[in-house]
Amino acid sequence: METQNSLHFLTSLSLTLLCCLLLHFSAAVFIPADNYLLNCGSTTNASLYNRLFLADGSTTKSVSLSADRSIALKNPNPSQDSPALYNTARVFTGGGGGGDHSSYRFDIRRNGSHLVRFHFSPFVAEDFDLNFAKFSVLVGGFLVLGDFSTQVVVVKEFVVKVEVDVLEIMFRPVNGSGFGFVNAIEVFSAPSDFILDDGARFITTSGAVEEYTNLSSQVLETIYRINVGGLKLTPFNDTLWRTWIPDEDFLDFKSAAKRAVTTHTPNYQKGGSTREIAPDNVYMTAQEMNRENVNIDARFNITWDFPVGSGGGARARHLVRLHFCDIVSSSLNQLYFNVYINDYSAYKNLDLSTMTIHMLSAPLYIDFVADSDDSGVMRISVGPSDLSSAMKMNAILNGVEIMKMVHVTGLETDKKKKHIWILVGSIVGGFIILCLAVLAVLLSLKCKKKKPKPRPSESVGWTPLRVFGGSSRSRMSEGTVSASPGTNGYHSLKIPFADLQLATNSFDKNLIIGSGGFGMVFKGVLRDNTKIAVKRGVPGSRQGLPEFQTEITVLSKIRHRHLVSLVGYCEEQSEMILVYEYMEKGPLKKHLYGSGCMPLSWKQRLEICIGAARGLHYLHTGSAQGIIHRDIKSTNILLDENYVAKVADFGLSRSGPCLDETHVSTGVKGSFGYLDPEYFRRQQLTDKSDVYSFGVVLFEVLCARPAVDPLLAREQVNLAEWAMQWQKKGMLEQIIDPHLLGRIKPASLKKFGETAEKCLAEYGVDRPTMGDVLWNLESTLQLQESGPPRTPHEDGNAGAPGLPTPRNAPQDPSGSGGVEGDVGDGSSDLRTSQVFSQLITNEGR
Ligand SMILES: *[C@@H]1O[C@H](CO)[C@@H](O)[C@H](O)[C@H]1NC(C)=O
Ligand SMILES: *[C@@H]1O[C@H](CO)[C@@H](O)[C@H](O)[C@H]1NC(C)=O
Ligand SMILES: *[C@@H]1O[C@H](CO)[C@@H](O)[C@H](O)[C@H]1NC(C)=O
Ligand SMILES: *[C@@H]1O[C@H](CO)[C@@H](O)[C@H](O)[C@H]1NC(C)=O
Ligand SMILES: *[C@@H]1O[C@H](CO)[C@@H](O)[C@H](O)[C@H]1NC(C)=O
Ligand SMILES: *[C@@H]1O[C@H](CO)[C@@H](O)[C@H](O)[C@H]1NC(C)=O
Repeated sequence: METQNSLHFLTSLSLTLLCCLLLHFSAAVFIPADNYLLNCGSTTNASLYNRLFLADGSTTKSVSLSADRSIALKNPNPSQDSPALYNTARVFTGGGGGGDHSSYRFDIRRNGSHLVRFHFSPFVAEDFDLNFAKFSVLVGGFLVLGDFSTQVVVVKEFVVKVEVDVLEIMFRPVNGSGFGFVNAIEVFSAPSDFILDDGARFITTSGAVEEYTNLSSQVLETIYRINVGGLKLTPFNDTLWRTWIPDEDFLDFKSAAKRAVTTHTPNYQKGGSTREIAPDNVYMTAQEMNRENVNIDARFNITWDFPVGSGGGARARHLVRLHFCDIVSSSLNQLYFNVYINDYSAYKNLDLSTMTIHMLSAPLYIDFVADSDDSGVMRISVGPSDLSSAMKMNAILNGVEIMKMVHVTGLETDKKKKHIWILVGSIVGGFIILCLAVLAVLLSLKCKKKKPKPRPSESVGWTPLRVFGGSSRSRMSEGTVSASPGTNGYHSLKIPFADLQLATNSFDKNLIIGSGGFGMVFKGVLRDNTKIAVKRGVPGSRQGLPEFQTEITVLSKIRHRHLVSLVGYCEEQSEMILVYEYMEKGPLKKHLYGSGCMPLSWKQRLEICIGAARGLHYLHTGSAQGIIHRDIKSTNILLDENYVAKVADFGLSRSGPCLDETHVSTGVKGSFGYLDPEYFRRQQLTDKSDVYSFGVVLFEVLCARPAVDPLLAREQVNLAEWAMQWQKKGMLEQIIDPHLLGRIKPASLKKFGETAEKCLAEYGVDRPTMGDVLWNLESTLQLQESGPPRTPHEDGNAGAPGLPTPRNAPQDPSGSGGVEGDVGDGSSDLRTSQVFSQLITNEGR
């Protein structure tokens, strides 16, 4: 036993090391495909923040300077503290009205968003006082700086989508007599997900929220980049060599905010933010509501005002990117808050826990598009939502970026080309539009027959729902009429309330088939004769809101033969309704004891256990993130008309607040007998907690008695303890369901007992994975059917603690659905345990 333990320790140690290595590699610096750094007007290289800017005089193959009238200028009196890069400049005197070209041309290797930065540091040399330069700059034909001049050192940054092989940057003095200059230029590829086209929230001037598409084709000028609650970050500290400045100067009312800082690096998640979007430091600091010296139920906003100076009352459109990372909560689902832009509601009831994979400190960002108003100020506020309880009222912000959409004015030289494109475009476009129109007509005809137009969702105060794991990438929402069903998976699952009323005969009491903490479950029939189970939350009550969302976001993403599938949901009129496939034979428990059902045969019971194990195994390993059910019991395993087992109810029991209540409230007694003892000790749930509960279910199936039966003699009350005593004595047959006596082959019973025993191991690490359990149950069935043992290691060590899941785990005989979830390869286990260890650290209190 001891050698086994130390062996296991070594294995897990090496796995940990491997994880560290992998993590280390994933944290590697970003290497842009295109990467040009130019020291303009110089013959020598110069470095700034550890980056080497190459002399623009020594033009390489991939950068060329074509300036008929350009002058390399050197500062004769360089100041001590200005970097060498700023001591030279290239001055452009041509390109005014004539045909002269003053431009740099960069060969582009990768299409997509590029960052372009210009460094301007005016000085006086020879006949030029650069403080008086006045000029325009065009990037790829877009005017990005018009009539520009500066008397101070300034870096201008633009994000431009490049879809040409050569990017031209042109300098044009405002008129023939003027001149332009630049000290340094950076042109480099942005990460491919830097500016996404979907999901930005457009706050219209009437206060509505619409989806803003086509963001990436905008030319953006960075106006502000703020590390809220933190220090200034220089290009040294940033993954894309950006500068972030502190927020304090922009705070409307400083005492409303309190700095929050963590030393833990953020938990970056797929679909959330990345280190390139914003560096660790941005997510490790925030401002939160300063609740000192205020009443416990005082509601207020934290507000920042950023002057964006829309000169002359002209409204300018801006991308406002807000960065969030919950570093202030002690557990999930504590933080619900509202975001306002220019006093318009921009995001209601933002719940970071549901946008991330149920993890704290998981960074994400949300893009908003808003127009500046006459005040010339972009106002950003965060404040508590109506949903937050007085105790947990809070709101946070970690970072802000404000980028102006540069108003595009065409360039004369490009006009001809454009004409041609417009012509071609309109011919092709016209044809496409025609095709689309025909298609649309056909589709609408078809739809009309099928079902009534879904009503636009009533704006109830729901926290917006989102795709599981999606966050920054899939951020559409609440009250948004224009939400397209196609792009957001769960939107297509919306069912009109009227349809459900019809299906359940207006929630007829006679159709109630169950009830739970969440509300009542009704049997129903949709118009197309699909039988459904309708779970209706107590109308008007917000209790169970997080669970409701979890169930939808999780279930809409998961389809498996052995998981009860979600048919749809309804959130109209303050209703919270979940609609599932109807399971004809109801819960497994009913078929084991207490209801007078026909006893199930041993083979049937094994097949049910195998099905449930398969579903659970898929839950643990099938999706990229791994999901813990948290409430495995015989009432949550349902049977369809063919006795195929499906695991149910896995959204409602897995989010934070309920967890809190689980170990204090008395309501927990129902599932008491199933709870992992380790969970009590360490207050941490893992996938092995599910394995424990499943072990209890196995004994329940074998003995046909409840997990806890207070009416029995003291030593018999808890099934897990009771059965383990007999299992250890090797006399399990003494307590099995009398209906099974003499019907189980001894080898099969032995294997089953051993499997259940392993599941009930005191420590999670000693318990098998669901993959192992599944494999052992398959063997149990084989032994019952008298098939020969299938593989050499079937007997000795299958499912032994610490051993990897057998690679040749049996495939789903039905061949449907679950194949991908059943591939129990080592890598997915590694991923899973990584994720779970993170869950442990984040959810443990
Ligand atoms: C500048 O650096 C490049 C790349 O390291 C090098 O090839 C070139 O010779 C350097 N030029 C000067 C003038 O030092
Ligand atoms: C970029 O896109 C343009 C137009 O779509 C195409 O002509 C060009 O070859 C592309 N370049 C690269 C490097 O993919
Ligand atoms: C050209 O620049 C000069 C000096 O900045 C200015 O006085 C003049 O009005 C400009 N001419 C035009 C046509 O913009
Ligand atoms: C996206 O923006 C570009 C540039 O402004 C424009 O040419 C294109 O038509 C836009 N596409 C859509 C779908 O709006
Ligand atoms: C930023 O980088 C500099 C230089 O490496 C370092 O001294 C400083 O501590 C860093 N700041 C932060 C906030 O990490
Ligand atoms: C927060 O600001 C918004 C927008 O200005 C306002 O409507 C709301 O009432 C404010 N909330 C509180 C609690 O002051």
